Amino acid sequence: LHRAIAIDGPAASGKSTLARILSKRLNLIMVNSGAMYRAVTWKVLKQGVNPNDRAAVVEALRQMELQCGVDGLASTVKVDGVDPGDELRSEEVNANVSAVAAVPEVRECLVSLQRDYLKLGDVVMEGRDIGSVVFPETPYKIYMDADPGVREARREEVGEVDSVAARDHADSRRETAPLKIAEGAAILDTSGHTIETGVKAALDILAS
Ligand code: CDP
Repeated sequence: LHRAIAIDGPAASGKSTLARILSKRLNLIMVNSGAMYRAVTWKVLKQGVNPNDRAAVVEALRQMELQCGVDGLASTVKVDGVDPGDELRSEEVNANVSAVAAVPEVRECLVSLQRDYLKLGDVVMEGRDIGSVVFPETPYKIYMDADPGVREARREEVGEVDSVAARDHADSRRETAPLKIAEGAAILDTSGHTIETGVKAALDILAS
């Protein structure tokens, strides 16, 4: 029986950190679904396609070849054979990923690739709609959150130019798969947590 742990929440709520640690401790494939939305956005921008032109984004999506795989326990993504690397977290991608992720055809395509990871093994997957759309049947769902100020500070600490508030606003307001607390998800607010205590809280949730 395959298992999936679903971790959702707004930007910089601690999803990636928790997913990385759970992946190591429980020997699970760690899938960063956001990297897939970022990769499509990166290619759309690279081709000079307007990210707000839905029809053009869909056309660009049809033309690109997405390859999702693993390197050790971590998910990887390539577009037309190229790994975008650090460019996935550029200011331009940060500013446009919400628009691209709001296109239903993009979501349909990526959700299917995300589910395919179960063919490779058990997964811990982080994103915005993992507990609500990708794996609604899993009993292991965590919704992570933290105060907006704490989250902005986390991004500044790593030197990333990212309007966390604007992205959260767009991600929560969109019609297709908006960011929300999935049915059955346990809420973990990491504002007052260290990494250690946050992981312990998550393990307690998963064991309960
Ligand atoms: O880095 P951060 O955790 O803030 O975001 P991310 O997980 O890299 O996701 C980047 C963007 O992709 C989000 O702001 C969403 O617009 C989109 N996304 C989504 O729509 N659904 C997912 N399951 C994951 C990401």
